[in-house]
Amino acid sequence: MKYMDIVNGPVNASRIILGCMRMPALSVGDAVNMIRTATELGVNFFDHATCYGNGEAEERFGEAFPATGIKREEVIIQSKCGLHFDTKEFDWSRDDILNSVDGILTRLKMDYLDVLLLHRPDLIFDPEEVAEAFDNLYTAGKVRHFGVSNVTPGQLELLKKYVKQPLIFNQLQFSLDQTQLIDSGLYLNNLTTDRSINRDNGILDYCRLHDITIQAWSPLQIGMFKGCFVDHPDYPELNMKLAEIGDKYGVPKTAVAIAWILRHPAKMQTIAGTMNPEHLKDICDAVKVDLTHREWYELYLASGKFLP
Ligand SMILES: NC(=O)c1ccc[n+]([C@@H]2O[C@H](COP(=O)([O-])OP(=O)(O)OC[C@H]3O[C@@H](n4cnc5c(N)ncnc54)[C@H](OP(=O)(O)O)[C@@H]3O)[C@@H](O)[C@H]2O)c1
Repeated sequence: MKYMDIVNGPVNASRIILGCMRMPALSVGDAVNMIRTATELGVNFFDHATCYGNGEAEERFGEAFPATGIKREEVIIQSKCGLHFDTKEFDWSRDDILNSVDGILTRLKMDYLDVLLLHRPDLIFDPEEVAEAFDNLYTAGKVRHFGVSNVTPGQLELLKKYVKQPLIFNQLQFSLDQTQLIDSGLYLNNLTTDRSINRDNGILDYCRLHDITIQAWSPLQIGMFKGCFVDHPDYPELNMKLAEIGDKYGVPKTAVAIAWILRHPAKMQTIAGTMNPEHLKDICDAVKVDLTHREWYELYLASGKFLP
């Protein structure tokens, strides 16, 4: 595994995170096995959210973790709050953040979170309320570090005007299929392609300029949860290139797809969502690969993009 010290955040964090969104599908025994496999592979960072299985992901993890024999301080546990799909609202109000963290800690059976992220913007968020909640959580020792997910530069600036703690992460969608994070910087004002549309107000450069580590979510998914592009019949050119480069480095195709994200100089982490220990082993082989500049471009082009 490769590790990085997060600016203003946890040290020695694995570049690959295990995302626990799909953990509700596992029995407690399988969850124990999955967490153990992850740590044996060097993954020491786990991502949760209150909305994953409506709390069930955190609950399963909390049931399984004590049986792994892993010490709490050996892992970095992150969760996210703010999404209420049950009531169809996104909520960053002070009370909701505070209540959410109490619920998270109860379900995880832990007394602190290493990282809390605000999951997706609340359309009517009040940054002063967020600041109050973060102060409260930090002072009480319930949360050590804070960040956001799917948040624009403007929203980050607004938060930073009031929030005292550094905002250290922005979790964003990025994969060989979903490249919108980097596309508009390439196609710029080109009228012949939608890829020129700036959909996020330059969040990639903003995060790099402000020492906010990007965590790339859904690194293998087609679109939003349409399945894995590796071995998918709609992606023949990409799969041929993944196989060719994989053969060169002696790793599976999924490892090459993950290595493509890790090769970006923004020094992102990536969040693998598999709940299959064998698939996670393949994914972690990504750290054996240092793609050349040309290979990185070859993969980008094989995923269906072109140079302007
Ligand atoms: N912040 C946000 O808004 C947000 C949104 C979505 C997700 N996330 C985070 O990102 C994590 C990852 O999301 P995700 O699960 O959608 O993304 P993912 O890791 O890109 O996709 C996982 C899918 O790929 C499949 N897969 C993995 N390795 C494979 C292989 N070798 N062969 C065939 N299929 C393979 C998995 O199936 P198997 O399980 O069978 O391996 C699963 O269906 C989540 O757990 C969550 O923590 C965050």
